[in-house]
Amino acid sequence: MKTAIRKITGRRIWDSRGRPTVEVDVELEDGSRGRGIAPAGASRGSNEAIDLRDGGTQLAGFDVQRALANVRGIIAPALTGMDAMNQAGVDAALIALDGTANKAYLGGNATIATSMAVLNAAAAAAGVPLWRYLAAGAPVRLPLPEIQIFGGGAHAGRRTDIQDFLVMPLGAQSFDEALVMVAEVYRAAGDLMDSLGRRTGVADEGGWWPAFSSNEEALEMLTRAIERAGYRHDEVAISLDIAASEFGRNGCYKLALESREYDTHEWLEVMLGWLKRYPIVSVEDPFAEDDPEGMRAFTAAVGESVQVIGDDFLVTSAARVNAAAAQSQCNAVLLKPNQAGTITETRQTMEAAKKLGWGMIVSARSGESEDTTIVHLATGWNTGQLKVGSFSRSERMAKWNEGLRIEEQMGASATFAGWSALPMRSPA
Ligand code: PGA
Ligand code: ZN
Repeated sequence: MKTAIRKITGRRIWDSRGRPTVEVDVELEDGSRGRGIAPAGASRGSNEAIDLRDGGTQLAGFDVQRALANVRGIIAPALTGMDAMNQAGVDAALIALDGTANKAYLGGNATIATSMAVLNAAAAAAGVPLWRYLAAGAPVRLPLPEIQIFGGGAHAGRRTDIQDFLVMPLGAQSFDEALVMVAEVYRAAGDLMDSLGRRTGVADEGGWWPAFSSNEEALEMLTRAIERAGYRHDEVAISLDIAASEFGRNGCYKLALESREYDTHEWLEVMLGWLKRYPIVSVEDPFAEDDPEGMRAFTAAVGESVQVIGDDFLVTSAARVNAAAAQSQCNAVLLKPNQAGTITETRQTMEAAKKLGWGMIVSARSGESEDTTIVHLATGWNTGQLKVGSFSRSERMAKWNEGLRIEEQMGASATFAGWSALPMRSPA
């Protein structure tokens, strides 16, 4: 069989934070090759697939020799000879070899790097770009980008409590134009920080370091940056990743920057105030992963006007998506392949969300690499939205730039998701 897996190689490489990570190369009998690199989160949900690290003192415990040993000693022998075109079969084998509910035995970093490498090898064997292989002839769109302008929370030494202050270029007609609009806002925000004497570098995902005296001040600055770049609020709108699990527990939300504590109801009122005062169209993890009632109350309060994304709350699990839908706890899902541990489980989560008419955002992690697989997933699966961090640092730009190449490959038939990707009505 020409597309049988002939060889699987695992090696240690380094991610965008200078930490070790797992890279897997897969070679097929016909000579086709594919590669996958595991990303790594810093603000992780407690139900994510386990990112297997060595522990100990060397490299602060972040080394991945155990995960690599699993690739070489367990995964490679079992998968050799399997058909790379049968992604579901390969991923089922990984799940069976692991045998745990959260990839704790093999390591989610070992399984996702392998799963992505097999997928890339299959597309190479098919002789088409990955997005086209995934689309399998169905019409697909370039995703609406969600791009960070200020990075806070766990990605900036908790300088702000809110993690991501992002923009969505809703008024763009193409992916190319969307990036131009974001580039203008990113630059305007940098100039604004400069003029205030507060430009001091960037956070983990490339967003400007959030030197603010309150969380709301960041929102104000972001709104000013959008206006300074010359855009109306229906052309470039704000999206927030609150990442509330990082500062909320047991219904108590502690904002360090303002030395304030809120209960679930008070925290809801604070955020509803922001929604009134700023052009926000999307909010991720507004409440902590242990606060489903907060998620439900928020989703009920914003009705059809705001996209409510579950990240830590849903951890790319189809079962959790269906359970959250039954309780109306959100209306969109963040899809992080390494939260699930395999491409097939990520796809199943996407399909569950698609059936529900939810928003779907394929997402990078704060620890990234030159791997661009997620851009192809967002396009080929037609999820409509893509979140990769900011508009600087090459591990981020590698993804945005790959989107431009895909748009060029689509040629005259290229379409851009824009507003249609959000699960609510356009205000236009
Ligand atoms: P992480 O954060 O990759 O550091 O976990 C990204 C996010 O919360 O969306
Ligand atoms: Zn998040």
